[in-house]
Amino acid sequence: KIKEHIAIVKGFQSKSLDDIEAFRIKYLGKKGLLNEFFADFKNVPNEQKKEFGQTINMLKTSAADKINSLKQALENKTEEKGIYGDLTRPGEPMEIGARHPISIVKNQIIDIFSRIGFNVSEGPEIEDDWHNFTALNLPEYHPARDMQDTFFIQTDPDILLRTHTSSVQVRYMENNKPPIRTISPGRVYRNEAISARSHCFFHQVEGLYIDKDVSFADLKQTLQFFTTELFGKSKIRLRPSYFPFTEPSAEVDVYWGLETETDYKMTKGTGWLEIMGCGMVDPNVLDNCGIDSREYSGFAFGMGIDRIALLLHQISDIRLLSENDIRFLEQFKSAL
Ligand code: PHE
Repeated sequence: KIKEHIAIVKGFQSKSLDDIEAFRIKYLGKKGLLNEFFADFKNVPNEQKKEFGQTINMLKTSAADKINSLKQALENKTEEKGIYGDLTRPGEPMEIGARHPISIVKNQIIDIFSRIGFNVSEGPEIEDDWHNFTALNLPEYHPARDMQDTFFIQTDPDILLRTHTSSVQVRYMENNKPPIRTISPGRVYRNEAISARSHCFFHQVEGLYIDKDVSFADLKQTLQFFTTELFGKSKIRLRPSYFPFTEPSAEVDVYWGLETETDYKMTKGTGWLEIMGCGMVDPNVLDNCGIDSREYSGFAFGMGIDRIALLLHQISDIRLLSENDIRFLEQFKSAL
Protein backbone atom coordinates (compact mmCIF):
# COMPACT_ATOMS: atom_id res chain seq x y z
CA LYS A 1 0.00 0.00 0.00
CA ILE A 2 2.84 2.36 0.80
CA LYS A 3 4.49 1.49 -2.49
CA GLU A 4 1.32 2.52 -4.30
CA HIS A 5 1.58 5.89 -2.63
CA ILE A 6 5.18 6.28 -3.71
CA ALA A 7 4.01 5.87 -7.31
CA ILE A 8 1.22 8.40 -6.77
CA VAL A 9 3.63 10.90 -5.22
CA LYS A 10 6.10 10.55 -8.06
CA GLY A 11 3.39 11.14 -10.66
CA PHE A 12 1.87 14.15 -8.89
CA GLN A 13 1.64 17.35 -11.00
CA SER A 14 0.32 20.69 -9.95
CA LYS A 15 0.17 24.21 -11.29
CA SER A 16 -0.89 26.08 -8.18
CA LEU A 17 0.59 26.76 -4.78
CA ASP A 18 -2.73 25.76 -3.15
CA ASP A 19 -2.59 22.31 -4.75
CA ILE A 20 0.96 21.81 -3.59
CA GLU A 21 0.06 22.85 -0.04
CA ALA A 22 -2.90 20.42 0.02
CA PHE A 23 -0.57 17.72 -1.22
CA ARG A 24 1.94 18.54 1.55
CA ILE A 25 -0.74 18.36 4.23
CA LYS A 26 -2.03 15.07 2.86
CA TYR A 27 1.35 13.37 3.15
CA LEU A 28 3.57 15.32 5.52
CA GLY A 29 1.00 17.11 7.70
CA LYS A 30 0.49 16.28 11.38
CA LYS A 31 -2.47 14.04 10.59
CA GLY A 32 -0.98 13.10 7.25
CA LEU A 33 -0.53 9.65 5.73
CA LEU A 34 3.12 9.38 6.75
CA ASN A 35 2.37 9.78 10.42
CA GLU A 36 -0.44 7.28 10.04
CA PHE A 37 1.98 4.76 8.53
CA PHE A 38 4.54 5.45 11.24
CA ALA A 39 1.86 4.75 13.83
CA ASP A 40 1.35 1.35 12.23
CA PHE A 41 5.05 0.55 12.71
CA LYS A 42 4.58 -1.10 16.07
CA ASN A 43 2.06 -3.52 14.60
CA VAL A 44 4.45 -4.77 11.94
CA PRO A 45 6.09 -8.14 12.62
CA ASN A 46 9.75 -7.81 13.61
CA GLU A 47 11.23 -9.43 10.51
CA GLN A 48 9.39 -6.97 8.25
CA LYS A 49 10.22 -3.84 10.29
CA LYS A 50 13.38 -3.02 8.35
CA GLU A 51 11.76 -3.11 4.91
CA PHE A 52 8.70 -1.26 6.20
CA GLY A 53 10.84 1.50 7.69
CA GLN A 54 12.84 1.91 4.47
CA THR A 55 9.66 2.11 2.39
CA ILE A 56 8.10 4.76 4.62
CA ASN A 57 11.30 6.81 4.46
CA MET A 58 11.29 6.50 0.70
CA LEU A 59 7.74 7.84 0.59
CA LYS A 60 8.77 10.71 2.86
CA THR A 61 11.74 11.77 0.69
CA SER A 62 9.75 11.40 -2.52
CA ALA A 63 7.01 13.63 -1.16
CA ALA A 64 9.47 16.27 0.12
CA ASP A 65 11.42 16.25 -3.15
CA LYS A 66 8.24 16.54 -5.16
CA ILE A 67 7.04 19.53 -3.18
CA ASN A 68 10.38 21.30 -3.55
CA SER A 69 10.64 20.79 -7.28
CA LEU A 70 7.05 21.84 -7.95
CA LYS A 71 7.50 25.02 -5.91
CA GLN A 72 10.74 25.80 -7.71
CA ALA A 73 9.12 25.35 -11.10
CA LEU A 74 6.29 27.63 -10.09
CA GLU A 75 8.67 30.35 -8.93
CA ASN A 76 10.63 30.28 -12.18
CA LYS A 77 7.38 30.67 -14.09
CA THR A 78 6.41 33.73 -12.08
CA GLU A 79 9.75 35.38 -12.73
CA GLU A 80 9.48 34.80 -16.46
CA LYS A 81 6.01 36.20 -16.44
CA GLY A 82 7.31 39.31 -14.75
CA ILE A 83 9.60 40.01 -17.69
CA TYR A 84 7.71 38.78 -20.71
CA GLY A 85 4.29 37.78 -19.57
CA ASP A 86 2.23 40.88 -19.03
CA LEU A 87 2.22 42.92 -22.20
CA THR A 88 0.00 45.59 -20.68
CA ARG A 89 2.67 46.62 -18.17
CA PRO A 90 4.18 50.05 -18.91
CA GLY A 91 7.63 49.84 -20.57
CA GLU A 92 10.91 50.62 -18.88
CA PRO A 93 11.65 54.32 -19.40
CA MET A 94 14.25 54.84 -22.16
CA GLU A 95 16.54 57.87 -22.46
CA ILE A 96 16.13 59.54 -25.84
CA GLY A 97 19.00 61.65 -27.14
CA ALA A 98 18.81 65.08 -28.71
CA ARG A 99 20.10 66.23 -32.05
CA HIS A 100 23.07 68.57 -31.82
CA PRO A 101 22.13 72.20 -32.59
CA ILE A 102 24.64 72.22 -35.48
CA SER A 103 22.86 69.23 -37.02
CA ILE A 104 19.46 70.79 -36.44
CA VAL A 105 20.42 73.99 -38.25
CA LYS A 106 22.38 72.16 -40.96
CA ASN A 107 19.35 69.99 -41.71
CA GLN A 108 17.12 73.06 -41.87
CA ILE A 109 19.47 74.71 -44.37
CA ILE A 110 19.70 71.55 -46.50
CA ASP A 111 15.94 71.26 -46.40
CA ILE A 112 15.38 74.82 -47.59
CA PHE A 113 17.78 74.55 -50.53
CA SER A 114 16.55 71.11 -51.52
CA ARG A 115 13.12 72.66 -52.06
CA ILE A 116 14.60 74.82 -54.84
CA GLY A 117 16.51 72.02 -56.52
CA PHE A 118 19.90 71.98 -54.77
CA ASN A 119 21.45 68.61 -54.03
CA VAL A 120 24.01 67.90 -51.29
CA SER A 121 27.67 67.23 -52.03
CA GLU A 122 30.49 66.31 -49.69
CA GLY A 123 34.26 66.09 -49.85
CA PRO A 124 37.32 65.33 -47.71
CA GLU A 125 38.34 67.43 -44.70
CA ILE A 126 42.01 66.78 -45.49
CA GLU A 127 42.52 68.58 -48.78
CA ASP A 128 45.27 69.41 -51.22
CA ASP A 129 46.36 72.89 -52.17
CA TRP A 130 44.67 72.74 -55.58
CA HIS A 131 41.12 72.17 -54.32
CA ASN A 132 41.34 74.49 -51.33
CA PHE A 133 43.28 77.36 -52.96
CA THR A 134 44.80 77.22 -56.44
CA ALA A 135 41.71 76.19 -58.40
CA LEU A 136 39.82 78.91 -56.54
CA ASN A 137 41.97 81.61 -58.08
CA LEU A 138 44.41 81.77 -55.17
CA PRO A 139 47.77 80.89 -56.74
CA GLU A 140 50.81 80.45 -54.54
CA TYR A 141 51.91 83.69 -52.83
CA HIS A 142 48.51 85.25 -53.44
CA PRO A 143 48.10 87.65 -50.49
CA ALA A 144 44.49 86.56 -49.96
CA ARG A 145 45.73 83.20 -48.71
CA ASP A 146 46.48 84.95 -45.46
CA MET A 147 42.76 85.64 -45.05
CA GLN A 148 42.36 82.06 -43.94
CA ASP A 149 44.88 80.85 -41.38
CA THR A 150 45.56 77.37 -42.58
CA PHE A 151 46.50 74.23 -40.66
CA PHE A 152 49.00 72.25 -42.70
CA ILE A 153 49.52 68.55 -42.24
CA GLN A 154 53.05 68.06 -40.90
CA THR A 155 55.58 69.70 -43.17
CA ASP A 156 53.92 69.10 -46.53
CA PRO A 157 52.52 72.47 -47.70
CA ASP A 158 50.39 70.65 -50.27
CA ILE A 159 48.28 68.81 -47.69
CA LEU A 160 46.06 70.80 -45.34
CA LEU A 161 42.83 70.88 -43.38
CA ARG A 162 40.30 72.58 -45.63
CA THR A 163 39.59 76.16 -44.64
CA HIS A 164 36.23 76.27 -46.42
CA THR A 165 33.96 73.88 -48.25
CA SER A 166 34.58 75.75 -51.51
CA SER A 167 36.98 72.85 -52.05
CA VAL A 168 33.96 70.59 -52.44
CA GLN A 169 32.57 72.91 -55.11
CA VAL A 170 35.81 72.58 -57.06
CA ARG A 171 35.55 68.80 -56.87
CA TYR A 172 31.91 68.95 -57.89
CA MET A 173 32.61 71.12 -60.94
CA GLU A 174 35.47 68.84 -61.98
CA ASN A 175 33.17 65.83 -61.95
CA ASN A 176 29.80 67.20 -63.10
CA LYS A 177 28.49 69.09 -66.12
CA PRO A 178 26.25 72.16 -65.77
CA PRO A 179 23.54 72.85 -64.89
CA ILE A 180 24.85 72.54 -61.33
CA ARG A 181 22.88 73.28 -58.20
CA THR A 182 24.61 71.93 -55.12
CA ILE A 183 25.23 72.80 -51.49
CA SER A 184 28.22 71.52 -49.56
CA PRO A 185 27.89 71.25 -45.79
CA GLY A 186 30.86 70.24 -43.69
CA ARG A 187 33.47 70.97 -41.06
CA VAL A 188 36.28 73.41 -41.78
CA TYR A 189 39.43 74.41 -39.89
CA ARG A 190 41.24 77.68 -39.31
CA ASN A 191 44.14 78.44 -37.05
CA GLU A 192 42.36 81.12 -35.05
CA ALA A 193 42.36 81.95 -31.35
CA ILE A 194 39.47 80.23 -29.59
CA SER A 195 36.98 82.61 -27.99
CA ALA A 196 33.26 82.95 -27.33
CA ARG A 197 32.82 84.09 -30.96
CA SER A 198 35.25 81.93 -32.94
CA HIS A 199 36.83 78.49 -32.88
CA CYS A 200 39.63 76.70 -34.68
CA PHE A 201 37.03 74.53 -36.38
CA PHE A 202 33.47 75.29 -37.39
CA HIS A 203 30.88 74.27 -39.94
CA GLN A 204 29.90 75.74 -43.27
CA VAL A 205 27.32 75.35 -45.94
CA GLU A 206 28.48 76.64 -49.28
CA GLY A 207 26.24 76.76 -52.34
CA LEU A 208 26.97 76.75 -56.07
CA TYR A 209 24.69 77.40 -59.02
CA ILE A 210 26.07 77.15 -62.56
CA ASP A 211 24.02 77.39 -65.74
CA LYS A 212 23.64 79.53 -68.85
CA ASP A 213 22.77 83.19 -68.15
CA VAL A 214 22.85 83.10 -64.36
CA SER A 215 22.75 86.65 -63.03
CA PHE A 216 23.38 88.54 -59.81
CA ALA A 217 19.60 89.02 -59.52
CA ASP A 218 19.22 85.22 -59.35
CA LEU A 219 21.75 85.17 -56.52
CA LYS A 220 19.95 87.85 -54.55
CA GLN A 221 16.52 86.26 -54.97
CA THR A 222 17.87 82.87 -53.93
CA LEU A 223 19.37 84.35 -50.77
CA GLN A 224 16.22 86.31 -49.99
CA PHE A 225 14.20 83.12 -50.30
CA PHE A 226 16.66 81.34 -48.03
CA THR A 227 16.72 83.93 -45.22
CA THR A 228 12.94 84.26 -45.25
CA GLU A 229 12.59 80.49 -44.89
CA LEU A 230 15.19 80.25 -42.13
CA PHE A 231 14.59 83.40 -40.08
CA GLY A 232 11.04 84.24 -40.99
CA LYS A 233 10.16 87.55 -42.61
CA SER A 234 13.54 89.19 -43.06
CA LYS A 235 15.32 91.91 -45.00
CA ILE A 236 18.75 91.33 -46.50
CA ARG A 237 21.44 93.75 -47.56
CA LEU A 238 24.40 93.02 -49.86
CA ARG A 239 27.59 94.95 -49.17
CA PRO A 240 30.41 94.97 -51.74
CA SER A 241 33.28 92.77 -50.62
CA TYR A 242 36.18 90.76 -51.97
CA PHE A 243 36.78 87.04 -52.48
CA PRO A 244 39.37 85.73 -54.95
CA PHE A 245 36.92 83.18 -56.37
CA THR A 246 33.97 85.50 -57.04
CA GLU A 247 33.62 88.71 -59.03
CA PRO A 248 31.73 90.77 -58.06
CA SER A 249 31.61 89.66 -54.42
CA ALA A 250 29.36 90.68 -51.55
CA GLU A 251 28.79 90.19 -47.87
CA VAL A 252 25.21 89.39 -46.90
CA ASP A 253 23.64 91.00 -43.84
CA VAL A 254 20.27 90.00 -42.54
CA TYR A 255 17.94 92.23 -40.52
CA TRP A 256 15.45 90.14 -38.73
CA GLY A 257 13.83 92.47 -36.27
CA LEU A 258 14.86 92.91 -32.68
CA GLU A 259 12.36 91.25 -30.42
CA THR A 260 14.39 90.45 -27.33
CA GLU A 261 17.32 91.76 -25.37
CA THR A 262 19.39 88.80 -26.62
CA ASP A 263 18.61 89.56 -30.27
CA TYR A 264 19.79 93.06 -29.63
CA LYS A 265 23.09 91.94 -28.10
CA MET A 266 23.69 89.40 -30.86
CA THR A 267 23.38 92.06 -33.51
CA LYS A 268 25.59 94.46 -31.56
CA GLY A 269 22.74 96.90 -31.61
CA THR A 270 22.63 97.67 -35.32
CA GLY A 271 19.94 95.20 -36.32
CA TRP A 272 22.04 94.08 -39.31
CA LEU A 273 23.94 90.86 -38.93
CA GLU A 274 26.49 89.49 -41.36
CA ILE A 275 25.68 85.87 -42.18
CA MET A 276 27.51 84.97 -45.37
CA GLY A 277 29.77 85.76 -48.30
CA CYS A 278 28.70 85.41 -51.92
CA GLY A 279 29.35 86.46 -55.48
CA MET A 280 29.40 85.53 -59.15
CA VAL A 281 31.88 82.70 -59.73
CA ASP A 282 35.07 84.13 -61.24
CA PRO A 283 35.47 82.92 -64.87
CA ASN A 284 39.01 81.74 -64.00
CA VAL A 285 37.54 79.33 -61.45
CA LEU A 286 35.10 77.89 -63.99
CA ASP A 287 37.92 77.38 -66.49
CA ASN A 288 40.19 75.83 -63.82
CA CYS A 289 37.46 73.28 -63.10
CA GLY A 290 36.78 72.37 -66.72
CA ILE A 291 33.67 74.49 -67.30
CA ASP A 292 33.72 76.84 -70.29
CA SER A 293 33.33 80.36 -68.89
CA ARG A 294 32.24 81.70 -72.30
CA GLU A 295 29.19 79.45 -72.15
CA TYR A 296 28.35 79.31 -68.47
CA SER A 297 28.11 81.62 -65.49
CA GLY A 298 27.06 81.08 -61.91
CA PHE A 299 26.96 82.23 -58.34
CA ALA A 300 28.37 80.89 -55.09
CA PHE A 301 27.77 81.64 -51.44
CA GLY A 302 29.09 80.37 -48.13
CA MET A 303 27.89 80.65 -44.55
CA GLY A 304 28.96 79.44 -41.11
CA ILE A 305 26.45 77.11 -39.49
CA ASP A 306 27.75 77.64 -35.95
CA ARG A 307 27.05 81.35 -35.79
CA ILE A 308 23.60 80.90 -37.28
CA ALA A 309 22.93 78.22 -34.65
CA LEU A 310 24.01 80.63 -31.91
CA LEU A 311 21.64 83.19 -33.29
CA LEU A 312 18.62 80.95 -33.77
CA HIS A 313 18.96 79.22 -30.41
CA GLN A 314 20.22 82.23 -28.43
CA ILE A 315 23.46 80.50 -27.42
CA SER A 316 25.98 82.95 -25.99
CA ASP A 317 29.27 81.09 -26.52
CA ILE A 318 30.42 79.12 -29.59
CA ARG A 319 32.58 76.84 -27.40
CA LEU A 320 29.45 75.27 -25.91
CA LEU A 321 28.89 73.62 -29.29
CA SER A 322 31.95 71.40 -28.96
CA GLU A 323 32.18 70.73 -25.23
CA ASN A 324 29.73 67.82 -25.22
CA ASP A 325 28.19 68.94 -21.94
CA ILE A 326 25.07 66.82 -21.54
CA ARG A 327 23.31 69.65 -19.67
CA PHE A 328 23.71 71.83 -22.75
CA LEU A 329 22.87 69.15 -25.32
CA GLU A 330 19.77 67.94 -23.47
CA GLN A 331 18.13 71.29 -24.01
CA PHE A 332 17.66 70.49 -27.71
CA LYS A 333 15.50 67.43 -27.09
CA SER A 334 12.38 69.23 -28.19
CA ALA A 335 13.96 70.70 -31.34
CA LEU A 336 13.70 68.85 -34.66
N1 PHE B 1 34.56 80.46 -49.02
C1 PHE B 1 34.23 81.70 -48.37
C2 PHE B 1 34.66 81.61 -46.90
O1 PHE B 1 34.88 80.53 -46.42
C3 PHE B 1 32.76 81.99 -48.42
C4 PHE B 1 32.29 82.25 -49.80
C5 PHE B 1 31.82 81.21 -50.57
C6 PHE B 1 32.34 83.50 -50.35
C7 PHE B 1 31.39 81.43 -51.86
C8 PHE B 1 31.89 83.74 -51.61
C9 PHE B 1 31.44 82.73 -52.38
O2 PHE B 1 34.75 82.60 -46.24
